[in-house]
Amino acid sequence: MNALASAVESREDEIDGRMQVVQQLSSMVAHEVRNPLQSLSLLASLARTEPDRDAQAEQLALIEDEIRVLEGVVQRFLSNSGPLRIARSQTDLVKVLERAASIAYPRAAQNHVRLLVQAPARLDVYADGSLVRRALENLMLNAIEFAGKGRSRRSTGQVVASIQRDDDRVVLIVEDDGPGVPYEDRERIFQPYMSSKAGGTGLGLALVRQVFDAHGGYIRCEPSPLGGARFVATIPLQPSLDGDA
Ligand SMILES: Nc1ncnc2c1ncn2[C@@H]1O[C@H](COP(=O)(O)OP(=O)(O)O)[C@@H](O)[C@H]1O
Ligand SMILES: [Mg+2]
Repeated sequence: MNALASAVESREDEIDGRMQVVQQLSSMVAHEVRNPLQSLSLLASLARTEPDRDAQAEQLALIEDEIRVLEGVVQRFLSNSGPLRIARSQTDLVKVLERAASIAYPRAAQNHVRLLVQAPARLDVYADGSLVRRALENLMLNAIEFAGKGRSRRSTGQVVASIQRDDDRVVLIVEDDGPGVPYEDRERIFQPYMSSKAGGTGLGLALVRQVFDAHGGYIRCEPSPLGGARFVATIPLQPSLDGDA
């Protein structure tokens, strides 16, 4: 084979690779838009029938807020096709966790799952709040789906989401009392398109991993003392010098 032919071949491989990235990103956008849209329509129908003015105003504010986040996420996905770019600002991650939980509550109620949030008053970190929020929503919605399933009959359906500072990093945990993730699958589930669910895309955890990686942290899955899966994520308080913007 001559040099030109192999150059053409490697160029084709490169194009193939880029196409795969683009395809993966567009499915991710679709996936990332679907969950918030479901929450939005739930919130909208709650707001429609809410008799209390203040409560209704709060629901509408949540809806507006969620729309802004959606716009931001889509924008960020579309503006580049390389590794996830993050836009950091000084962010109270407790508020981010609480916002994510407020989106997950209606789904928890529907599934008869108790969602508990444990957090200090506030925890300021230089981070991309809207992406961390999307990551936490993904983890909570997964946990809610699996909570209370597959174990003993008297299992209640419990999800605990917590945030705490540990030395030079923030640790975020989402855990449930569902069936858990078998040891051999605990890394595999973070790969794109790995799903055990009928209509699943397998893109949620792939995005979650990208979000924490892009912050210089990590996410892993382990067994939870509640009996199900525990997802532990970290974000360093000091962003690394050589890394992300
Ligand atoms: N809390 C959990 N408990 C048990 N299994 C889980 C949990 N979260 C994720 N998984 C497993 O990881 C797979 C991938 O999850 P995800 O990337 O969010 O995609 P999807 O939700 O579309 O299946 C799920 O299909 C499931 O098998
Ligand atoms: Mg999911």
